[in-house]
Amino acid sequence: MNLLEECKIINFSESGDERGKLVAIEGNKTIPFDVKRIFYIYGTDQKVIRGQHANKDSEFVLICLSGNCKVRLTDGLNEKTVVLDTPKVGLYIPKMVWKDMYDFSSGSVLLVVTNTYYNKEEYIRDFNEYLSIQKELL
Ligand code: TYD
Repeated sequence: MNLLEECKIINFSESGDERGKLVAIEGNKTIPFDVKRIFYIYGTDQKVIRGQHANKDSEFVLICLSGNCKVRLTDGLNEKTVVLDTPKVGLYIPKMVWKDMYDFSSGSVLLVVTNTYYNKEEYIRDFNEYLSIQKELL
């Protein structure tokens, strides 16, 4: 099983006119789950690596609203890196994928939508623990 094959780029439709551009996203439609929580990451220094965890229950869509950043994904076996540099796309990440967000450009804003309310118990923050869980599953 390659969990990373389920990590998908979602292209949003853009409504633009002479006043500017607009993207609307809807739960269970554009976003492939019921949206329960939204948070955004900003003011992040370029040297910082965020994320560094996997989630037992949360699925995510990451949208870089301004600037750019990179997302490194691994399921313990496979690895890939995605550059987010436009508010016109979202990166869907299923549960149990390990993710690192890094190389944030100055002024960047990363929007995250997820299917869960915040629960710190569903986070796996120890990579070795993650690998041992994945070894059972993969
Ligand atoms: P953290 O999970 O470390 O952020 P990231 O993975 O995006 O780098 O969260 C940073 C802090 O914010 C931590 O104290 C927990 C808190 N937090 C919430 O209270 N609610 C949330 O929905 C999230 C994602 C984090």
